[in-house]
Amino acid sequence: MFIVVGVTGGIAAYKTVQLVRLLVTGGHDVHVIPTDDALRFVGLTTWEAISRNPVTTSVHEDVSEVRHVALGRKADLVIVAPATANSLASMTAGLADDLLGTTLLATSAPVVVAPAMHTEMWQHPATVANIATLRERGVHVVGPADGLLTGGDSGPGRMSEPEDVVAFALALFTGDLDGLEVVVSTGGTREPIDPVRYIGNRSSGRQGAEVALAAAARGARVRLVAAHVDGGVLDAASRHPRIAVTRVGTAAELGEAVRAASADANVVVMVAAVADYRVAEVSDRKLSKEDGPLQSLELVQNEDILAGLVGSRRSGQMIVGFAAETATDADELLDRARRKRRRKGVDLLVVNEVGWSAGFETPDNRVVVLGADDEVAAEASGTKRQVADALWDAVLAVRAASN
Ligand code: CTP
Repeated sequence: MFIVVGVTGGIAAYKTVQLVRLLVTGGHDVHVIPTDDALRFVGLTTWEAISRNPVTTSVHEDVSEVRHVALGRKADLVIVAPATANSLASMTAGLADDLLGTTLLATSAPVVVAPAMHTEMWQHPATVANIATLRERGVHVVGPADGLLTGGDSGPGRMSEPEDVVAFALALFTGDLDGLEVVVSTGGTREPIDPVRYIGNRSSGRQGAEVALAAAARGARVRLVAAHVDGGVLDAASRHPRIAVTRVGTAAELGEAVRAASADANVVVMVAAVADYRVAEVSDRKLSKEDGPLQSLELVQNEDILAGLVGSRRSGQMIVGFAAETATDADELLDRARRKRRRKGVDLLVVNEVGWSAGFETPDNRVVVLGADDEVAAEASGTKRQVADALWDAVLAVRAASN
């Protein structure tokens, strides 16, 4: 999720460092907007380092990007923590005298505020009225907690703990894949020839990682079985609280891991590029020309994991395959894809055209999704994340139709 965290000028700003960290390690894209006063408590460098994004505080910077509305528009969620009495009054009045104020007016995302102030200020009729108005407008208020305040006194006014603010904010999102258990495979298997060589393929694992992230962002619990992937591809998935990553090497290992993970799954999506063949006898020592020129490698066929999953699926389990095909035109692509879908027996087959310069190692993708009736159920193009979301839309449509 794209999350904006507004920080206003209270000592509890130090707790917001941990709050931002929790969101970032949860796989979210976090943009911090501190007010000038907040920067007196925690500096810009800390916010940039912890959020892993640049931080600006002024409406007059990056004017060409129209930053004062851009962040608000992009946000899926805005959290203001700590929210001082003054900032709550500004929000209630709709003041737009800084970047946080303009962002709050420009957003239609849910807004969560975590008030922090002294008990007298929290209980003052002005603050009570402001909170009531904000609640009426749909702003979500978390806390404040009752406890020790700055200066040694105690009472309601303490900012809620970062873990509680995050849990409260994320619980506002009930995704359309809530409660679903899904398994996704990704990457390319590597079949060893000898201790240093292998048969592999060009799959980067990006599309599968995005299928996993999209599902998790929409509420599913994901088991991601990853063969070889490009560097950094699994970073966000490994940090996501709803994704469990298992690493594998060969097709046989992938098959075993996917079958084990699939026992309770509602949906299994095989994005991995699985080697169809392995070397009949893997050499224990490095093959050398000294042994004479290598004339050929004897290969044996690997099991078709996907077809096996379809054959042994539990009732109601949906199985989705991917197919990367080369074709001279769209008709040939669809013909090949239809034959493959029937051969595998999957509920959905996501087909993309690949070539020497398309489909691999790129951020974008273009796919056609074939349904069990061999008709085109969906077409999608754009980033691999957009393609992943279109796939989950198609999965939901099939599940809805079969209920
Ligand atoms: N697949 C699999 N096990 C294999 C090969 C492929 O589970 N041994 C899965 C892939 O993960 C993918 C789908 O099958 O979801 C299609 O992969 P692809 O390589 O296109 O299928 P093949 O059956 O190998 O077809 P082809 O003969 O065209 O290579």
